[in-house]
Amino acid sequence: MRTQDPKTIYLKEYQQPAFWVDHIHLTVKVFDGYTEVTSELSLRKNPTVASRELVLNGVDQKIQSLHLNDAQLTETDYQYSGGLLTLNCATDTARFRAVTRIDPQNNTSLEGLYQSGSMLCTQCEAEGFRKITFYPDRPDVMATFTTRIEADAKRFPVLLSNGNPVDSGTLDDGRHFAVWEDPFPKPSYLFALVAGDLAGKDDRFTTRSGREVTLRIFVEPQNAHKVDFALASLKKAMQWDEDVYGREYDLDLFMIVASDFFNMGAMENKGLNIFNSAAVLASPDTSNDQRFERIEGIVAHEYFHNWSGNRVTCRDWFQLSLKEGFTVFRDTEFSSDMHDRAVKRIETVAGLRAVQFPEDSGPMAHPVRPDSYIEINNFYTATVYEKGAEVVRMIHTLVGAEDFRRGSDLYFERFDGQAVTTDDFVACMEQVSGLDLTQFKRWYSQAGTPRLAVTDEFDADNGNYTLTFKQACPATPGQPEKSPFVIPVKLGLLGTDGQDLAIKTRANYSAETEVLTLTDEVTDVVFTGLTERPVPSLLRDFSAPVKWSFGYSDEQLAFLAANDANGFNRWDALQQLYIRAILSLATDRRAGRTLTAPSVLVETVANVAGDATLSHAIRASMLTLPGYAILKDAVDVVYIEDLIAARKHLVKTLATRYRDIWRSLTEKLSSHAPYEFNAEESGRRQLQGLSLWYWLKAGDQAAFDFAAQLYAGATNQTDRSNALRAVLAGDAEALQQSLLSDFYDHWQSDTQMVEQWLTMQAGTPGTTVSDIETLMQHPAFDIKNPNKVRSVIVGFAMNTESFHDDDGEGYALLASVVQQLNALNPQLAARLVTLLSDWKRYDATRGKMMAKALETILATQSLSSNVFEMAQRALKD
Ligand code: TRP
Ligand code: ZN
Repeated sequence: MRTQDPKTIYLKEYQQPAFWVDHIHLTVKVFDGYTEVTSELSLRKNPTVASRELVLNGVDQKIQSLHLNDAQLTETDYQYSGGLLTLNCATDTARFRAVTRIDPQNNTSLEGLYQSGSMLCTQCEAEGFRKITFYPDRPDVMATFTTRIEADAKRFPVLLSNGNPVDSGTLDDGRHFAVWEDPFPKPSYLFALVAGDLAGKDDRFTTRSGREVTLRIFVEPQNAHKVDFALASLKKAMQWDEDVYGREYDLDLFMIVASDFFNMGAMENKGLNIFNSAAVLASPDTSNDQRFERIEGIVAHEYFHNWSGNRVTCRDWFQLSLKEGFTVFRDTEFSSDMHDRAVKRIETVAGLRAVQFPEDSGPMAHPVRPDSYIEINNFYTATVYEKGAEVVRMIHTLVGAEDFRRGSDLYFERFDGQAVTTDDFVACMEQVSGLDLTQFKRWYSQAGTPRLAVTDEFDADNGNYTLTFKQACPATPGQPEKSPFVIPVKLGLLGTDGQDLAIKTRANYSAETEVLTLTDEVTDVVFTGLTERPVPSLLRDFSAPVKWSFGYSDEQLAFLAANDANGFNRWDALQQLYIRAILSLATDRRAGRTLTAPSVLVETVANVAGDATLSHAIRASMLTLPGYAILKDAVDVVYIEDLIAARKHLVKTLATRYRDIWRSLTEKLSSHAPYEFNAEESGRRQLQGLSLWYWLKAGDQAAFDFAAQLYAGATNQTDRSNALRAVLAGDAEALQQSLLSDFYDHWQSDTQMVEQWLTMQAGTPGTTVSDIETLMQHPAFDIKNPNKVRSVIVGFAMNTESFHDDDGEGYALLASVVQQLNALNPQLAARLVTLLSDWKRYDATRGKMMAKALETILATQSLSSNVFEMAQRALKD
């Protein structure tokens, strides 16, 4: 919580601690109403630091007793204020012992030890361990852990912590104990403890060196039928990390626990990953294809952290992207290998543009490696994760797959058991490749999305074609000027027949990878030997996270959408065409002109819909219009009514013009085969869902009937939610209500289904603030449960039409929810503040109302440092 003045932490002030911890022995005794924690630290002086001050973090601790080297400490021996316990330690090795009490039952912050449903569990990243005991709670302090847990045997039959179980037994009064030992030194943020009445399911994996690993997943008993997919995903991830990175698992046991109360997706605690239930529990009947895909990816992500994060961890929290950017890159590659690479790339880039680009162009912009923070929890962002992954991807592109693997081998070997920096990672890549990545590292230090403006010139007389690349990066908070980035541009040149022409150039271009590397503000690249003016296909596979532009005509974009050899760029060309069309329709509306969708686009859509050479999934991605997040990021001032009307007009045009196409696709793509989750089947369902959505937008009664039948006959959640999504987007209110109430009646005891039910309602066009308030009164809602809050509140904020209604009530509602959550769960409250952070982009009236909501938040009594930092950044000029 905020003290008087929230303290800013700076990267440049990093210093090692005066004492290291070699080992910690924790004893956690769970009682009704409180938990007693005894921690015994084996300390060792850090010879490189002069100070003898032992600094320990501790928050919400009731001190019972403190000892240093067996001498009991009295209040004159130490200082305890502002969450820091400091004392002098005269010896070079020392034992420190703390006995404290904590209160997990009333810990709604969901960090430290807290109650989640019937179980107790922990969340220690980033700085939650200090809520469990006194400790140097910083990632560069790596210790081995022994953990003894004691609790009531009936209520908490399962007692878990990191590493290997080494002892267990019964105690008096119906209590029992378990002791766990983690042989791998780790920072405190990777500590985990779970106590509960849980159902476990086992599986096995044999590593390539022959280690037999038990895989065990624990869930509350009602979820026992939802664990198989996560176990299967885990095995695939383990295999992939061996095959692609040569990384083996290192303990005999790997555990996953599902928790209903969780601030984020999942957590990579050593040997004991804890997951948000929504990110791990799956069954065909309750999880749609997207959810299966997300679960597979996140299970892999947390598993991959065992090396990229745990064995090699971060020196300080400014290095967060060292583990997150790299691990997101790894899990994205895993998903690409498991399914369809082009489809995965499209999804990744669409997500980056919808979330990270706006973050990078607003008041929340920060470098992949930030320079300062007040609350590190506010920096688990799309920039650190997703842009960080793009930065790693560019390194992979520049050094090539083979050297990238050699670089990662070197990184894991050189730094095993250490806490390091992004510079250390890059240095390994430099060493193996011989490349100098000094300039490249600006991607870590400079915030903002670079702009890359490309122009061309063709000289028919000598067959020379010149592309001119100009890069610039807008100012971001604290960074008025930027220096040029290293930008890898993967490209092709298309001839009139749609085929790639041979590329001859003397520029910094690799024919093997088709990548041109830009380093300067302006680069002219001359391609020789051309007999016709080509159409350039630029930034293939989105080779760099930039906003690039080229003065294509609509016809050229349609040509690329139809012919580009690069699947990603076919999609991207069509996206550019959609954005251009919607923005120009919005301008027309503003000027009071009649709206007519451009014919080139309208025809292209029919061609794509009928192009049997494209996979179902690619067709579905190509036929999906850009959402408001992307449209908003493409204009200087957001006139939201115009954007909404323009987008709707385009949808209506495509829906009605091609109603027969949508109908026949919908019908043709039906299947009664048993549910299977794989690229082909999910592609089929995705295209069917989209076709049905369009067909229904055309207003045909037959479409409503089809949707109602698809819903009623669905034997899997993908069909069911496709049907619902289509119906909710239409205007058959009676049908909407009957399906929604049927859904709740049928699935009210399933937490994941109830969350989806809440999200669907919050996101339905026409939902009002008072509907949301009613929903928040529903027994299914719980303000203390982040998933429920996200379903309703984030769901509503994503409902552009409703949230941005010009009465401003949506903003006021959000402010009041943030105020409530400020006291309960500051981490979650601070995340919700970002939903208002783009206020300056809107028309003046809306902008003012959004800013006022931020000011209301800033004026909250006992404002947490989390919310303070976000609201204040959002409001800053
Ligand atoms: N390290 C986790 C991951 O990305 C995410 C994480 C960070 C987290 N802080 C958290 C999860 C707090 C839950 C709560 O894999
Ligand atoms: Zn992660």
